[in-house]
Amino acid sequence: MKKKKSQSLLRRLFIYGGNYKYLTLIGMFLSGVSAFISLVPIVFIWLSVKEIFSIYPNIVMTDSLIRYSWLTLGSAIGTMVIYFVALMCTHLAAFRIAKNIRLCAISHLMTLPLGYFNEVGSGKLRRIISDSATQTETYLAHQLPDLVGAMVTPLGVMIFLFLFDWRLGIISLMPMALATISMMFMMGKGYSEQVAQYQTELENVNNESVEYVRGIPVVKTFGQSIFSFQKFHNTIKTYQKFVVNYTVHSRMPMVFFQTFMGSMAIFLSISGIWIFTGASDPQNFLLNFLFYLFFTPICGMMMSKIMWTSQNTLLAEDALSRVNELLSEKSLPQQSESKEVIKTFDITLNNVSFRYPNAKGNAVSDVSMSIKQGSTVALVGPSGGGKSTLAALIARFWDVTKGNIRIGGADVRNIDESELMKNISFVFQHTNLYKASILDNLKEGKPNATEEEVLEALKAARCEDIIGKLPEGIHTVVNTKGVYLSGGEAQRIAIARAILKDAPIILLDEATAFTDPENEHQIQLALNELTKGKTILMIAHRLSTIENADCIYLIANGSIKEMGTHDKLLIENGLYAEMWKEYQSAFIWNEREVLA
Ligand SMILES: Nc1ncnc2c1ncn2[C@@H]1O[C@H](COP(=O)(O)OP(=O)(O)OP(=O)(O)O)[C@@H](O)[C@H]1O
Ligand SMILES: [Mg+2]
Repeated sequence: MKKKKSQSLLRRLFIYGGNYKYLTLIGMFLSGVSAFISLVPIVFIWLSVKEIFSIYPNIVMTDSLIRYSWLTLGSAIGTMVIYFVALMCTHLAAFRIAKNIRLCAISHLMTLPLGYFNEVGSGKLRRIISDSATQTETYLAHQLPDLVGAMVTPLGVMIFLFLFDWRLGIISLMPMALATISMMFMMGKGYSEQVAQYQTELENVNNESVEYVRGIPVVKTFGQSIFSFQKFHNTIKTYQKFVVNYTVHSRMPMVFFQTFMGSMAIFLSISGIWIFTGASDPQNFLLNFLFYLFFTPICGMMMSKIMWTSQNTLLAEDALSRVNELLSEKSLPQQSESKEVIKTFDITLNNVSFRYPNAKGNAVSDVSMSIKQGSTVALVGPSGGGKSTLAALIARFWDVTKGNIRIGGADVRNIDESELMKNISFVFQHTNLYKASILDNLKEGKPNATEEEVLEALKAARCEDIIGKLPEGIHTVVNTKGVYLSGGEAQRIAIARAILKDAPIILLDEATAFTDPENEHQIQLALNELTKGKTILMIAHRLSTIENADCIYLIANGSIKEMGTHDKLLIENGLYAEMWKEYQSAFIWNEREVLA
């Protein structure tokens, strides 16, 4: 990683370019040529002026004047054509490189543990893959060729300046040298870190503002003031402090830079008068002097351009390092040889411990359990106990830190990912549906399913009432344009998807609360349909769902506290019995409410 950092941005971008990198180099070269030629018309115009002065007052079209005019026109058109070809080359290469960056990032994402996606969030991933690649695209297509142009122009100008009058050449160089020194002060040590930090601060503000908007309902319902969002407030403050510090730091060098760049005419005037007094041919000197007066401001413009482009270079650098950070995420190890196939569906967890990446403690510690093929095992327990984590480990969203998980005797780490996924259906606690039609959402379970099969699954999961309400039936796109399903409804659709998939193992993470008793009843019926003859791990919040489970595990603080059938656990009169009593009283209370 360190080594990569020290490589130039262009080299690192070229890794993604293949042979297209040569197009970038050709584009850069042509852009330089075009910048140089762009100075030629000015020289010819000036030569024309000089010619006119020399033949004054008999102004006629001399051969030289005609020649100068054609050369002016020719070089102006030449500049444009060459620049156009240059941009075409750099664009072709930039698109290809950005495309390859996206492909690399996406194919690497495919190898990451599924749990990573819950952790990082789709917003951030989108920004890394899409925006960062776009940033490099703009850099390669426009900024890079323009940077070359901006560097060649002052060089060309200098050649002309020295060619006409070396004394004036040296004088016009002075302010440029001073401006360059000021620029170096501003962009010296630590500048790239500052740009990176600026990006990070900006990202923090973005993230926090999203959280803030998400939290507005909470603020409103609890009647809290805006200061409850201390974190957002602090992020803005930090950002503000950073930007102000940075501006203060750049203030003096920037003032000097602009002053020197703007002071060329003064430098030239003073020195011009001084040289003029001793000049042997005052008329010729005056004409040359005019040339300098017109030419040197171009250098100023180009210097400013170089400065801004350098900043963009750092932005592209930062974008690329974000992509590289993603690429350095550790893939889930895949056994290439000796893959094991799932023959039976008994699931066993042997002394499983797991700690989330970057977490301090274990989320699950030393858990052993067995789920016989065709049986139903339920997990219950307090929030944060580790139930969802256990289910995620069985589907290998993460690899266990210690112990092992076996399906039909085969370690999940040795089972091919597609084989594992084919045999498991997962109904999640949250975020079950994505922004697509109900039909497409269901087809995730079985891509080649016919519409009839989809309808049948929806019927089995008791979703007909939901579909009936939607404006375009199963073709309605959910999670958009005012079409939102309640948590319970979304979970029923997810159950329909699992029914369609018809996998032998079902991991079911019940949504925490269903407010509507009718919905609860429908979900129960849907579940009965889904779980027929399957091997089931069910995480339940409503204890009535699991009364008949073959075994119930009470999970708290990442480990098993109690286990057994419902009746056995009631007799033991432990934590489960307590939870059951509480649940019963809440349930009866609810029933009364409904009946009243
Ligand atoms: N992606 C994650 N990164 C880090 N820690 C996590 C992550 N997801 C869960 N945890 C932590 O792991 C522990 C177990 O969480 P888990 O979601 O498994 O609990 P749970 O029993 O399913 O809770 P609930 O009943 O509320 O759904 C908690 O302490 C939680 O904070
Ligand atoms: Mg959970």
